[in-house]
Amino acid sequence: MAKSPFLKNTWYAALLSSDLSEDLFSRRILDIPILFYRNQDGAPIAMHDRCPHRFAPLSMGKKQDNCVVCPYHGLKFDESGKCVENPHGSGQISEKAKVRSFPLIERHGFIWIWMGDLPADESALNRHDQLDKGHPNGIAHTYMHRQCNYELITDNVMDLSHVDHLHGEIISTRGQLSPLIPNLVEKNGDISVRWEYEQTPAILILDPFLPKPGIGGKHFIEVTWSKPSHIQLTIGATQDENPILDYDHTVAQYDLHTCTPETENSTHYFFATRRNHLEEDADYNAMKIKAMHDAFEQEDGPILDAIQGLMETNDFLAMDPALISSDMGPIKVRRTLKKLIEAEQ
Ligand code: FES
Ligand SMILES: [Fe+2]
Repeated sequence: MAKSPFLKNTWYAALLSSDLSEDLFSRRILDIPILFYRNQDGAPIAMHDRCPHRFAPLSMGKKQDNCVVCPYHGLKFDESGKCVENPHGSGQISEKAKVRSFPLIERHGFIWIWMGDLPADESALNRHDQLDKGHPNGIAHTYMHRQCNYELITDNVMDLSHVDHLHGEIISTRGQLSPLIPNLVEKNGDISVRWEYEQTPAILILDPFLPKPGIGGKHFIEVTWSKPSHIQLTIGATQDENPILDYDHTVAQYDLHTCTPETENSTHYFFATRRNHLEEDADYNAMKIKAMHDAFEQEDGPILDAIQGLMETNDFLAMDPALISSDMGPIKVRRTLKKLIEAEQ
């Protein structure tokens, strides 16, 4: 088997649930073109987007009931990728007329795909049940595409010390974050970094929901990476005297960032955010996800794409970077992932 630069026997986000219908949809994942659609029961289907005859993209073909018909010579494949009809000659079906299908799980508003050769392990997909708790207007999802390696995006989320330098007023920590060395914890293969600090005023995304806006409060941010490229971020603020700094005891939001390599140098970036305040306000929800989408597209994204253009290799450490204290988390993640990829090969 050829060496892959990616971890394969693991789950990646492939699509937002809301982006998949019964129509054929093609997306490249780990550099393999995949055809997606929903069958008539609504279940998501994924198979290699390449006909085994002359390698035409099946996504340019037609749906017929739950099957897909190749646009070039009309071989028809069922949802498992088995050829069920050959309109040519005697209609005999070659043993080679088989399309590889891929296991999927639909959960938390995403469709997750297993790209490896080992049997799919459902228990290996982390649960983020917090996303599903609460009012439906208290959660939103988005998708972005970037021209950079996925690890640049996971670095960016693991290392939030950039927020006061790159981002605007709305998520400023008033310079409080950069001087802090975050607390790093490794548990069951996951890697967390956590900051606790005070700022005045409170971070502006949370300040209006505190009992006394404008006077500041205690904050925490916790970011947890799980293989291969899922990052859960919780941020909360409170004005309690003896606060419990977690999602349930602060004005907080619970976010999931998850990155899926399209190719070595381009990434599908998925994002979901759940909050515990103003949960029922659909307009606020739409405004919030738009603001977060725009901040990434306009602030993080252009820097990351530009960095990609300046790096000679995706092996970040091979470029001998000048590291700073906040790199602890992202470097630990890179080393851990590298070991997992090497072990898989
Ligand atoms: S390429 Fe698909 S049927 Fe010929
Ligand atoms: Fe950022």
